Amino acid sequence: MGLLNADQRAGEASTELIFFVNGKKVVEPHPDPEWTLLWYLRRKLRLTGTKLGCAEGGCGACTVMVSKYNRKEKRIIHLAVNACLAPVCAMHGLAVTTIEGIGTTKTKLHPVQERLAKAHGSQCGFCTPGIVMSMYSLLRTTQNIKYSDLEVAFQGNLCRCTGYRAIIEGYKTFIEDWEVKRVANGTSSHSNGTSNGNGCAMGKDCCKNKIDDSETEFIFDKSSFLPYDPSQEPIFPPELKLYPVLDEQYLVYEGSKTTWYRPTELSTLLKLKEKYNDAKIVVGNSEVGVEVKFKHCVYPVIIMPNFVPEMNTIKENETGLVVGASVTLMEMENVFKSYIDLLPTYKTRTLKTIISMLNWFAGKQIRNVAAIGGNIMTGSPISDLNPILMSLKVKLNLMSEKDGPRSVFMDETFFTGYRRNVVKPNEILLSIEVPYSTRYQYLRAYKQAKRREDDISIVTAAINVEFENHTNIIKYINIAYGGMAPVTKVAVNTSKALKGLKWDERMVEKTYECLLEEFPLPPSVPGGNVLFRRTLTMSLFFKAYLAIAKDVCKDYLNEDLIIPYHSSGAEQFHGGMPKSSQYFELVGDRQVKSDAVGRPITHFSAMKQVTGEAIYCDDIPTAEGELYLAFVLSSKAHARIVSINADEALKQPGVVAFFSGKDLTKDQNSIGPIFHDEELFATEKVISQGQTIGVIVAEDQQTAQDAARKVKIEYEELQPIIVTIEDAIKHNSFYKQYPKSIKRGDPDKAFEDPNNIVIEGQCRMGGQEHFYLETHAAFAIPKKEDDELEIICSSQHPSEITKLVSHILHVPMNRIVTKVKRMGGGFGGKESRGMLISLPVALAAHKLQRPVRCMLDRDEDMQMTGTRHPFLIKYKVAFTKEGKIMGARVNIYNNGGYSIDLSGPVVERAMFHFENAYYIPHCEVIGHICKTNLPSNTAFRGFGGPQGMFGAENMAWDIASKLGKTAEEISRINLYRENLTTHYGQSLVHCTLQRCWDECVEKSNLAQRRIDIENFNKQHRWRKRGIYIVPTKFGIAFTEKLLNQAGALLIIYTDGSVLLSHGGTEMGQGLHTKMLQVASRALGVDISKIHISETATDKVPNTSATAASAGSDLNGMAVLEACETLNKRLQPFKDKNPDGKWEDWVLQAYLNRVSLSATGFHATPDIGYDFKNNIGKPFNYFTFGAACTEVEIDCLSGDHQILRSDIVMDLGESINPAIDIGQIEGGFVQGYGLFTMEELIYSPTGTLYSRGPGAYKIPGFGDIPLEFNVSLLKGAPNPRAVYSSKAVGEPPLFLASSAFFAIKEAIKAARVDAGVPLDFYLESPATSARIRMACEDHITKRIPRPEPGSFVPWNVVP
Ligand SMILES: Cc1cc2nc3c(=O)[nH]c(=O)nc-3n(C[C@H](O)[C@H](O)[C@H](O)COP(=O)(O)OP(=O)(O)OC[C@H]3O[C@@H](n4cnc5c(N)ncnc54)[C@H](O)[C@@H]3O)c2cc1C
Ligand code: FES
Ligand code: FES
Repeated sequence: MGLLNADQRAGEASTELIFFVNGKKVVEPHPDPEWTLLWYLRRKLRLTGTKLGCAEGGCGACTVMVSKYNRKEKRIIHLAVNACLAPVCAMHGLAVTTIEGIGTTKTKLHPVQERLAKAHGSQCGFCTPGIVMSMYSLLRTTQNIKYSDLEVAFQGNLCRCTGYRAIIEGYKTFIEDWEVKRVANGTSSHSNGTSNGNGCAMGKDCCKNKIDDSETEFIFDKSSFLPYDPSQEPIFPPELKLYPVLDEQYLVYEGSKTTWYRPTELSTLLKLKEKYNDAKIVVGNSEVGVEVKFKHCVYPVIIMPNFVPEMNTIKENETGLVVGASVTLMEMENVFKSYIDLLPTYKTRTLKTIISMLNWFAGKQIRNVAAIGGNIMTGSPISDLNPILMSLKVKLNLMSEKDGPRSVFMDETFFTGYRRNVVKPNEILLSIEVPYSTRYQYLRAYKQAKRREDDISIVTAAINVEFENHTNIIKYINIAYGGMAPVTKVAVNTSKALKGLKWDERMVEKTYECLLEEFPLPPSVPGGNVLFRRTLTMSLFFKAYLAIAKDVCKDYLNEDLIIPYHSSGAEQFHGGMPKSSQYFELVGDRQVKSDAVGRPITHFSAMKQVTGEAIYCDDIPTAEGELYLAFVLSSKAHARIVSINADEALKQPGVVAFFSGKDLTKDQNSIGPIFHDEELFATEKVISQGQTIGVIVAEDQQTAQDAARKVKIEYEELQPIIVTIEDAIKHNSFYKQYPKSIKRGDPDKAFEDPNNIVIEGQCRMGGQEHFYLETHAAFAIPKKEDDELEIICSSQHPSEITKLVSHILHVPMNRIVTKVKRMGGGFGGKESRGMLISLPVALAAHKLQRPVRCMLDRDEDMQMTGTRHPFLIKYKVAFTKEGKIMGARVNIYNNGGYSIDLSGPVVERAMFHFENAYYIPHCEVIGHICKTNLPSNTAFRGFGGPQGMFGAENMAWDIASKLGKTAEEISRINLYRENLTTHYGQSLVHCTLQRCWDECVEKSNLAQRRIDIENFNKQHRWRKRGIYIVPTKFGIAFTEKLLNQAGALLIIYTDGSVLLSHGGTEMGQGLHTKMLQVASRALGVDISKIHISETATDKVPNTSATAASAGSDLNGMAVLEACETLNKRLQPFKDKNPDGKWEDWVLQAYLNRVSLSATGFHATPDIGYDFKNNIGKPFNYFTFGAACTEVEIDCLSGDHQILRSDIVMDLGESINPAIDIGQIEGGFVQGYGLFTMEELIYSPTGTLYSRGPGAYKIPGFGDIPLEFNVSLLKGAPNPRAVYSSKAVGEPPLFLASSAFFAIKEAIKAARVDAGVPLDFYLESPATSARIRMACEDHITKRIPRPEPGSFVPWNVVP
């Protein structure tokens, strides 16, 4: 039924939104097109299980399942979807399932929830609901799941804590024989089938089964898993299945800024587009949603064509397949696969190439909703599909109401400029014609990104070639590139020049010449990476050349076009099912069951986390009269503030107040964790972008954020803008409290000794964004009386929040209670910088006497809160010809940013760790802190330690290179041994370094694998492998003596239940779980009787931050003391009634008027260091370890894969091996991101470009080692910490540098083949760009280098 015009049709449109959530019908009479599904779930329906991690589809924390009924095929389709991008208006007629809808702790957990929890796959838990829902959606859609399905299901989910291994192991159980058989038989009785039940991928070959027969307990026990029974799943709402009415409705939703149309007929859609030329056609909203949220675009008219039949089908025509423009990428992939199964192989090469590219296109949640039409019409120059479609010159069918249909080809004329094309404003893209390939046609496409999965490309290449019949003579070739121009660009001239040539090396040479000419990039081009991008145009073509040559030879040409030595260049990395093992000491049979210490019990909150019941700061229900706070941030890195004008913002309806430096005295406005050297609100000058200038407080988030953008700041720019360490050195911009130095012996003597060899070098390590999944959040509630204020926030240091709030409000600390229930990750990022959020929130709540809340958007968090410090380390080292280090002088520079924050202790820890695990008799280390115009850099797991140790490993590498030895030899002869002293005079006792090293060498089978690698490298020109082992020695304690103290409060109630409070905060690291285990043993009661509610400054005051890996050590001892005090009080009652129960003794104590609450306190004895005189003991003890990693690199693309990592760590007698192994794996994978992938991208004027998961890549599921083995050293009790345990949080992180150095080894092998010098410089992180450019070869040599200093680069390395 076509109507005359859209408005007429609108007259009979439905304006009500109807959908189902967890089986319940939701009717929304006034939907606003600006509402996302996530906002609606969390704010309107109060379903807070689904989390917000990024709002840009990049982290998967918001994953829900959306189900719809396909009437044509009569089947229900279930899709994992990012609720942060899905407009709630698009849910009409659909059923949404959230984490709350599948299982709860109150009723029954779903197997996907239970298995994740029991397999220890949830640490902080913030990513967990999204991961559960991705797995759940997979289970609901696929029978007989294969590992490759799991890989795809998790491409769009990130976890920053676990290192993924535990999640994968937990979920691999769904594909194991016993589960598959049971599901296939429809039986629900549980059987462990062929699995060995130990949670190890090696099954009966697991090393655990070999090493020690007495070891029968495993990290998780599959036999306790609930069986999965698909027949028990909730049914799809019958109303949606039976009645098509909701599908057929024409919808019009009018919001305050946007009107949403959902036509169901093509004619109506065309009319609407004719009338509203500027209307956005939204299918998946994956582009538009990001534009609205982060670019603040407002689109008055949105049209959703998802129900227009012509745009949603795939049909076959005589030349190929006609794909409707609204067909989603996932649907397209499924249909293409069905044609691939049916058609002759040669015909489907085009389809296969598209499918293989789709595997690297976003994550599954995005591909489930994003349409092919959206990708074409967005016209991103780094689109992944457009190069393929352009190389094929696909036909696009367009249509408008006025001009009817027309077709255009996607050739070099289609894109007319950045994100512009030839489609007219009144036209829509109706469909795309994808041709089948012909018999002699071959197609290859490659995408190179920072991360293989779910990343935007740096360069994408598509090569489409057709040969003369039965020959290798090029009949036709069309090459297209993404990432090389403001549009996807066809290599027109190159393609022309190749016609008629033979597919051989001469043709390749010719291609290089042409590509160099056709794809010049100016040195300042946006996106940077100029040399890499230019190299890739040729390297990726070369890959295609090799791959197609192989195919042609195999298919019809009986001639070898390439030699086997070169053929590895044709391949790309594809993941595979990872294997793992975990080896730890079991508690003996003699340990009583109720004693939880030493057992791998699951995280205390795991069950709540997997069900979405765990409460994080922003999940706290709204309070009466609550307001929202939004930030006004500096957009200049160095400028005088001429004026701040909030008038317009304050006029907006719903805006309540604006606060700035004017609302505080100069002293109140000065804040900082150690020195008060920064302003809460910048007043006269800004010295970094992302500094707070003021805050707007309004009735809701949207109003506050919109108004904040209306605050006008006038600046007068100042010079210089110092961004990098090198800039700071040039301008002599350092914090005055430094440099500091530590000196032992006389390094100059070692340098002068003629028996020694002396070299100089330097290394550089980039910063790292914390990327905790939960951004900073705070909620302040005024108590209306006596200036009392309660602050609930995500802080690792509640006491400091109380102290600073007291300082800015001039209210005594006893009126200000700071509480932290849990954080969605911290990693040091919430140690001091939380003040930037909590203080303004507290100020606003105090001034307005109303509750105020704020949770930073991801981009704000990344711009404001600082990162791990980038470091530059310059060294001079003297050594014997055997490689024994005799002396070293090391200058360490860190980039502190605009305030000193914790940069002092960070550089000091780097100084304490500059020798890593090596004894250096004569040395001097000098630490400098650079003052730059960047956000203030801060604590991050390792706290300077990894950066210092990186210096030592670079020295070892350089010494090995100089002497022609392996670095392993150098490391081994320099390793610390028992009773040797460090350069700060601390003697090493109970030093297990050598044991860790030897065990790691043995377990990793290093010697044999080195030989295998040599053989591999000899046979493969374009793939190289490298292996490397690193030791680590990490000092445990705060280096500031006074911080080594902790408190606890233990309360026993008359029913025998115990409430434990201590000074540490829970951020996923399992601290509360360990404290419960300690209390359980100390009190002799079952862990189920003890509860920890939260960390609060009114329970345990004056605490230190939960940091320095010392949380368990310090708080554990305080808990122990509190328990012992109460034990003493209960002892008389136990003596009187030895056969009684805990409850009896407790009750008797109460009846006898004995206090049942006690505090505990611990101050680490025998610790403290005097910098001036270099005496004392900065550390309580050391945690030791070693890791061996093997990698393989692709020398042409710069890509790499970890093949195997073996870790051995001494954690004393672990309180909880599952938690400790989780910390090792999570720390290692986080370190792996630091050393290989994560890159902060800054402009030379201090603008951060990497502001979200789209641009900043942390490791994903596909990046973990293909084999990952972790062993805890046995028989190494630690006398200096609670129950002989050792700290674990930070020490493993550095072990990931083994991947960096293994990459360096592999590059070295490539350089041997290329005949270029073996001595080369590689900065950390070893990104694909750096790896590729270090593999110098015939391609890289061709790229002309611009004269340094002759241009302003697009980005700089801070
Ligand atoms: C996390 C994330 C990861 C991503 N990863 C990748 C990636 O790896 N590779 C890549 O290439 N892209 C990627 N993208 C970009 C994006 O997902 C794709 O471009 C996607 O195909 C867009 O489809 P959509 O349906 O969501 O578009 P929408 O956001 O709904 O629309 C996009 C644009 O296309 C226009 N449009 C849509 N359909 C029509 C039509 N029929 N006629 C006229 N105009 C139309 C709209 O008006 C709008 O301007 C990613 C995006 C996100 C958020
Ligand atoms: S919050 Fe939706 S993907 Fe990150
Ligand atoms: S458990 Fe995955 S982000 Fe914390």
